[in-house]
Amino acid sequence: MNNDILKILVSEEQLADICQKLGQQISNDYADKKPVFIGLLKGCNPFISDLLKKVTIPCQVDYMKVSSYVKTESQDKINILNDISLNVKGRDVIIVDDIVDTGKTTSLIKNLFEQRDCKSVEICCLLDKPEGRIVDVPVKYIGTTVPNEFVVGYGLDYDEFYRNLPYIGVLKKEKYN
Ligand code: IMP
Ligand code: MG
Repeated sequence: MNNDILKILVSEEQLADICQKLGQQISNDYADKKPVFIGLLKGCNPFISDLLKKVTIPCQVDYMKVSSYVKTESQDKINILNDISLNVKGRDVIIVDDIVDTGKTTSLIKNLFEQRDCKSVEICCLLDKPEGRIVDVPVKYIGTTVPNEFVVGYGLDYDEFYRNLPYIGVLKKEKYN
């Protein structure tokens, strides 16, 4: 284990199991719908890659790079750094992200795609941190729930580091304090 990690929360085996289960569930739910997976960079990787290998129905994939920022106290906005190239009008869209914490990012993205006249918009997140929730956003597919701690690995970063860890772990406090 990396020396900066306090403990492992989700092991490599558990991550593989999560991708298998979610891939199968989505394949059942979206049979004949040809869904479009939209990965939110950079945190969606490697989750979306492992998930897609377990999806057994025809589908398409695209990626979007966004950053959310607070414009005023009450109005959060999403900044699109790189948009998708596929046309999603009338399509069944599944947004894929690493973690739902406050819920702001996923909620704003869901609204954005609803405005683009998609047939349906659902969210698939590897991790859910329910104690951090500020905005109530419906997340249809969740890998697993984590406590209110700062986690890294398997796509999740601190200052752009640790994305390459093959597991999800809690970062030692002295590493970000
Ligand atoms: P939200 O908008 O607060 O739901 O959070 C969305 C983003 O915050 C995620 O996509 C992550 O990039 C980041 N984030 C939230 N919690 C953590 C964490 O524990 N570790 C790393 N990134 C996190
Ligand atoms: Mg992120």
